[in-house]
Amino acid sequence: MSYDATFRVWRGDAAGGDLQTFTVPVNEGEVVLDVVHRLQATQAGDLAVRWNCKAGKCGSCSAEVNGRPRLMCMTRMSTFGEDETVTITPLRTFPVVRDLVTDVSFNYDKAAQIPPFTPRARDADGNHRMQQVDVERPQEFRKCIECWLCQDTCHVIRDHEDNKRAFAGPRFLIRLAELDMHPLDVVDRKHAAQDEFGLGYCNITKCCSEVCPEGIHLTDNGIIPLKERVVDRRYDPLTWLGSKIGRR
Ligand code: SF4
Ligand code: F3S
Ligand code: FES
Repeated sequence: MSYDATFRVWRGDAAGGDLQTFTVPVNEGEVVLDVVHRLQATQAGDLAVRWNCKAGKCGSCSAEVNGRPRLMCMTRMSTFGEDETVTITPLRTFPVVRDLVTDVSFNYDKAAQIPPFTPRARDADGNHRMQQVDVERPQEFRKCIECWLCQDTCHVIRDHEDNKRAFAGPRFLIRLAELDMHPLDVVDRKHAAQDEFGLGYCNITKCCSEVCPEGIHLTDNGIIPLKERVVDRRYDPLTWLGSKIGRR
């Protein structure tokens, strides 16, 4: 069964833009990205939109649908009433390139600043050994498709552009957590998490976890444990003394 839906789509570029209204046919079972493609094919041939897999796995089609950060390819039109206007805007936290496409290079810059996994020397028999629980723990974080919806949502940078320099965002706080919890990694990530990547800016609103399309519990399983590890390091007297002596 088809119906005509009203769409408002943000059109413009870095210099400015506004919402334009379109009436687009919608078929049963379609997702928002299907309708955006139909709009592009029939009424707005120059509409800029980024997408790739249409299966919720490439993380490209992120946008804000009725104000909520979402993957357009995973947002069913049945989420909305047939009379409801569907408003699509680009990710607010990142600079607009054109229409629904934003410049997300902030995220790649932050990724590049994190020192890579650095394992300790192998055991005498040439193997690396770690417990199965340590193998399994980071699997959740590794489901990340780098859609940047959590980064877009976090108020620390969404509402405060000037925090971008000091705050890496939730996706990279869980990357730091993943590495810090890794039993073979020898890099001290705790000071960097706090001092270079802005862990202290996070006040645990959990909005990042709510929008993650992979269902990653960023706050409960990554950010809070990382905060606890940093506190343990800072306030354990022996550890504190050791770090002072070690720094001399
Ligand atoms: Fe997207 Fe989730 Fe990865 Fe954030 S943690 S970039 S919301 S998949
Ligand atoms: Fe931001 Fe997530 Fe913390 S939304 S404030 S990083 S819990
Ligand atoms: Fe790949 Fe939507 S097109 S996640």
